[in-house]
Amino acid sequence: MNVNVVSSDSCTLADEESCLIIPLYKKAFPLNSCVLNEGDEDILQSLADKGIFDGSALSTYYLPTPKSAYKGVLVLGLGDSDGCDSEVLRRSGGKAAAVLTEHRITHAWLDLSGHGDLTPEPILEGIILGQYDFTVYKKAPEAEKVPVKLQQCTVVTHSDADQDALQLTSKLSVLTCLSANGARHLANTAPNEMTPIALAEFARGIADESGCKCTVLEPKQMESLGMNALLGVARGSAQPPRLIVLEHHHSDDARTVALVGKGVTFDTGGISIKPAAQMHEMKYDMCGAAAVLCAFMTIAELKPAINVIAVVPAAENMTGAAAQRPGDIVKAYNGKTVEVHNTDAEGRLILADAMAYTVDKYKPDAIVDTATLTGACLIALGHCAAGLFSNDQPLADGLLEAGQHCGERLWQFPVWEDYEKQIEGTHADLCNIGPREGGAITAAAFLKQFVGDTPWAHLDIAGTAWGVKGVPYLDPDHATGFGVRLLTHWVLQQVESEKD
Ligand code: BES
Ligand code: MN
Ligand code: ZN
Repeated sequence: MNVNVVSSDSCTLADEESCLIIPLYKKAFPLNSCVLNEGDEDILQSLADKGIFDGSALSTYYLPTPKSAYKGVLVLGLGDSDGCDSEVLRRSGGKAAAVLTEHRITHAWLDLSGHGDLTPEPILEGIILGQYDFTVYKKAPEAEKVPVKLQQCTVVTHSDADQDALQLTSKLSVLTCLSANGARHLANTAPNEMTPIALAEFARGIADESGCKCTVLEPKQMESLGMNALLGVARGSAQPPRLIVLEHHHSDDARTVALVGKGVTFDTGGISIKPAAQMHEMKYDMCGAAAVLCAFMTIAELKPAINVIAVVPAAENMTGAAAQRPGDIVKAYNGKTVEVHNTDAEGRLILADAMAYTVDKYKPDAIVDTATLTGACLIALGHCAAGLFSNDQPLADGLLEAGQHCGERLWQFPVWEDYEKQIEGTHADLCNIGPREGGAITAAAFLKQFVGDTPWAHLDIAGTAWGVKGVPYLDPDHATGFGVRLLTHWVLQQVESEKD
């Protein structure tokens, strides 16, 4: 989708396939628009007078306008102006997306001409995320039923607004949300196709497009590097594991940040097998990987003044004759030995090698991992926020801020030493599980053993990666792309804070 920001005095709405979107605070009549034609304004005003629409939060009203130079007007209710934060705007954008799809609109004018206080970015984000669908495996509909998506959005601002600045930030929102949709697509793809090799191919594609470096380690190389925790998880599968590394290099003296994403392309639990009922959902166990790769996709295109390393350990956790057993002891990349008491706690094992390797080889100034790591985190926070765990409060604060900005909320848990005690091994240095209570935190405490002194943060996205209900721009039956927008924003913020 293309976005263009124009001033209301230099714009003529002449496009018969287009729709004029007018945001409206609750009961804030008359409609504040500098571009709506008078006839339509009168009709809308009398509809409003009759109480047909009133600007309630997340309400929409679509008026076909066959006599105007545009196809229709969409009044987008924002609720009370006091409560209208960026997430309300994003969710309204999600509501608008459904209406635009229904009326097969290809071009929208987002009319902010009467609203000096509204920014277009969250509304655009809601529209792009909201129009995402996943139909690749379905029978193709007849030509006239193939959904039409928005191709162009023209943001109409008040003449005082800084159009150039808005153009840049709007473009960034579009790019980031298209990447988020890319992550949703990777995750939704069936696990017989979305294998570790397929993830590596996707990463190679990003490198080819952007000119950045991509390295993919295969089992032989992992063996010689001593990545036995990652190899152990993959042993039960016919799909060989991969360790995928993408590098955006800016300069030797710039800050380096590393993003690491759990890429378990299917998690049966292994020998400690999962119950059958929801097991199919474990194709989403690579949502951390999808988020990291797709955040990197935007970063590689923007080439910000910072070095960024994206790392994805990719493996499939299966049962099988060669599968890892409960009781097995493996030595990780950093030399620590791990007793595997539960083969279903595999995410932390593959992340352990990936993070120890990343810290050792790239010496990042900060490392952030994202993973569908524990059912315990889902139980703690539900689907409304991801868990945040860190050994460095400034890093955690930056991520909390980024999450708030993007509407990808985080909630921080402590990682006290008491929790680290709970994952000590009996026969080895560490055990891959702790007690059931506090399971999300002991998982984080385990990861902490593999980053040394590097400032590190872990996002447990088990609750937010899929199955989110009640958010208009998401759909509960598919992946959310959680983390793409947050990580992209966070990385770009790092560049900004360097300048201070
Ligand atoms: N991928 C799962 C975590 C998960 C479960 C995410 C349900 C989303 C929904 C992870 O590999 C796992 O199986 N974790 C175990 C850890 C336990 C054995 C200590 C869990 O949470 O049950
Ligand atoms: Mn598991
Ligand atoms: Zn898993």
